[in-house]
Amino acid sequence: PQTLRALADRAGIHIGTAVNADALAGEPQYADLVGAQFNSVTPENAMKWDAVEPTRGTYNYTQADQLVAFAKAHGQLVRGHTLVWHNQLPSWVTAGDFSADELREILHQHITAEVSHFKGKIWQWDVVNEAFNEDGTLRDSIWLQKLGPGYIADAFRWAHQADPKAILFYNDYNIDGVNPKSNAVYDLVSSLRKQGVPIQGVGDQGHLDVQYPAPHDIATNLARFDKLGVQTAITEADVRIPLPADNTEVEAQNEAYQTLLEGCLLTKHCTDFTVWGFTDKYSWVPGTFTGEGQANIYDENYQPKTAYTVISQDLTLA
Ligand code: G3I
Repeated sequence: PQTLRALADRAGIHIGTAVNADALAGEPQYADLVGAQFNSVTPENAMKWDAVEPTRGTYNYTQADQLVAFAKAHGQLVRGHTLVWHNQLPSWVTAGDFSADELREILHQHITAEVSHFKGKIWQWDVVNEAFNEDGTLRDSIWLQKLGPGYIADAFRWAHQADPKAILFYNDYNIDGVNPKSNAVYDLVSSLRKQGVPIQGVGDQGHLDVQYPAPHDIATNLARFDKLGVQTAITEADVRIPLPADNTEVEAQNEAYQTLLEGCLLTKHCTDFTVWGFTDKYSWVPGTFTGEGQANIYDENYQPKTAYTVISQDLTLA
């Protein structure tokens, strides 16, 4: 059987996975599958602020550099994740009693340092992550509170200055279909583009749960971003199941993966379908949603699940 990446190459799309840096370094079986099955990779945690600058001015890019080198050796593109977020911030940022001007300069410096470090090596950067609430208002993060809504445009401008060739993304969850949150993202992107702010992509994370129906208007939603002139991507697909999983739930999971992938395949400038980890062995889900899991396309023993089959079939037909 053909690998996912071989099928994706033929379909003219990228297929990616989030990568757990410890597993990549420590488990040959894990690394082999990352290299064989995917043609794009995203560091699950290694490029986040708390990982790269745990104390002020002390940078640690070791794990992120390892992934970038792995990607180069395996002919893979890298999605950089993520520059501005409210989570996984080092405590010196969150606990520091900075003025607005100081914090703005800290953010500027962070973006400039990190994007410059990886200049020329990152395909797409998730510049701003999860800035909206479900109702479409801006999330009350440290950035909004201290810097005001202009932090978003600033972040894109600073990232662009540091690496003009990287494709700059806004990335969020629960924006698969048309809803108040995706409408807000649409309005944001539309307004930024009108102002000439360098934003070139929208990432739909695609974290789904079989307990809720998968949105069936993904292509409709992504198409409107296409019309704004930005790329789209499914950046963090996984579909969690309340455990133990029964057959109906596994079917629902397959269908949800299919719905996400087809939404992307039907959208002209949807460039990438990335799963948020490929194996149930390493998944953020059980640690966050008690009693849920089995969200990925390989099981804990690295055996492909039916979701894998469904994805390969869809890529074959694309
Ligand atoms: O690195 C520390 C380690 O030193 C410590 O001993 C251990 C004890 O808990 O924690 C380790 O940090 C963990 C980190 O992952 C690295 O493994 C954090 O506790 C844990 O909360 C963190 O979870 C990550 C989560 O983002 C944090 O928000 C998940 O791995 C990661 O998959 C998840 O990814 C996010 C995307 O970036 C954005 N979209 C949603 C997605 C799922 O939450």
